[in-house]
Amino acid sequence: MSSSETTRSSTFLAPDRWETPEFVLRSFRPGDGARLAAALNSSYDHLHRFMLWAIPNEDPDEVEQRVRRFHARYLLHEDFIIGILSPDESEVLGGTGFHLREGPLEQKRCEAGMWIRADLAGSGLGKRVLAALLDWAWTEWHWERISWHCSTQNVASARVAESAGLTREGTLRAALTVRGEEPHDLHVYSILRKERI
Ligand SMILES: CC(C)(COP(=O)(O)OP(=O)(O)OC[C@H]1O[C@@H](n2cnc3c(N)ncnc32)[C@H](O)[C@@H]1OP(=O)(O)O)[C@@H](O)C(=O)NCCC(=O)NCCS
Repeated sequence: MSSSETTRSSTFLAPDRWETPEFVLRSFRPGDGARLAAALNSSYDHLHRFMLWAIPNEDPDEVEQRVRRFHARYLLHEDFIIGILSPDESEVLGGTGFHLREGPLEQKRCEAGMWIRADLAGSGLGKRVLAALLDWAWTEWHWERISWHCSTQNVASARVAESAGLTREGTLRAALTVRGEEPHDLHVYSILRKERI
């Protein structure tokens, strides 16, 4: 049995990290609060339109409590919130994740999401992170389907999905809550394991 078949068995245990020369993808964990708060506080203006969880002036101690909850939920297989860290793990470059919004873990479907730190956005990092996330997904995770949802007005997010080979399945009308605006139309993209490249 290959290692990939092993990880896809019923005894699935969420893998913890995936490294590239440019960044590390891993579960947030105790001790990450200050570096995540720094990334969020420098990115509020960039994030607040589409990321409803974004708030200004995050307190590092509150963010530390949050990363501990993220880590606990990751270990419990409730939600997989993943940090994008610099290779030495001293800086948070953004966040991503596999979210169980399409059924329980056993059904092997999830929705991926992403944000990139403001000073790094638009430099191709989002595209490279989604490519790496999919490499990890098909190699060590058991997912059969990964979806991606974005506003029809979020050109960068749609381009990230398309660059990674996801298929646009359709557009839901007025289906996305956006801060301070009427609901946006929502593109739904997906990729299946059998389409891996
Ligand atoms: C959406 C996001 C994750 C994309 O990551 P990124 O690193 O900025 O994107 P990239 O630099 O990899 O660029 C991807 C593509 O979008 C284009 N792009 C980037 N920023 C853009 C902008 N502001 N307007 C239009 N196109 C843009 C790039 O030119 C590139 O296009 P290409 O494939 O034709 O070369 C990031 O911008 C972000 O964090 N946005 C705020 C949070 C958010 O909206 N998250 C997604 C929710 S669905």
